[in-house]
Amino acid sequence: MEKYEWRQSADGSLTLYSKEYEECYHSVKDGALTEALKKHVEPAFELTSKPHLRILDICFGLGFNTLATLYHFSKQKRVKSLEIFSPELDATLLKTLPSFPYPKPLEPFVPVISRLIEHGKYEASNISIELRVMDAREYIKTLHDIDIVYQDAFSPKKNPSLWTVEYFQDLYTITDENMILTTYSIATPVRMALAEAGFMVYERSVKGVKKITIASKKSLPLLAIDMKAKAKRSTSKPLRDRE
Ligand SMILES: C[S@@+](CC[C@H](N)C(=O)[O-])C[C@H]1O[C@@H](n2cnc3c(N)ncnc32)[C@H](O)[C@@H]1O
Repeated sequence: MEKYEWRQSADGSLTLYSKEYEECYHSVKDGALTEALKKHVEPAFELTSKPHLRILDICFGLGFNTLATLYHFSKQKRVKSLEIFSPELDATLLKTLPSFPYPKPLEPFVPVISRLIEHGKYEASNISIELRVMDAREYIKTLHDIDIVYQDAFSPKKNPSLWTVEYFQDLYTITDENMILTTYSIATPVRMALAEAGFMVYERSVKGVKKITIASKKSLPLLAIDMKAKAKRSTSKPLRDRE
């Protein structure tokens, strides 16, 4: 565990600080479990109406977004079945997860993590999860008809390849027309990259946590950001692969 340090987050759940990326896996101020539920899982479920969801979790990390999805799924009735797809580069981290001190609401799902780490797959009657140790950029090219993307890489400064126009163009290709993308990043270059890839961009205030960005292909009943006007006013530029 010498690459990581423990961090206590605001809602009491523990997260890690990565010495390699010099960032935490979650917002310590918002709380790790709160962030997974309020910035990703709850808004995504609320804005989709399908009974079967195909979810892309970018990237697995400590698995909070996948586990919080299982928790939320178990508490609701509308969505009947789930498929989750998640890439992760750090095999060393994954091996430690079965003994990670997850917060109480996620504890019932820890056996799922153990199975995923061992077999790369978890299958139940209405849930299927795939965890692949590989680069997200390559992994996403194997997917199609994704309904929800949890865009939860480290920051654009530290993890640039997962925030470029070309990366978001690949996400555009593999997502359903009613898709929803959730991200904690409200940075203008990120929003510009999403817009250039063809997505509509929205801002959402969420009680108790920082604002988030939502992207979609179809219009949503949310506060839309006028990206054309923003691009004219701003000196920011979206990230691109070859820079
Ligand atoms: C902010 S953390 C993800 C937090 C995660 N959602 C959670 O709940 O713990 C970002 C993760 O992306 C992984 N990562 C960074 N670049 C990657 C890439 N190109 N492909 C796959 N995983 C990558 C890192 O190893 C790290 O685990």
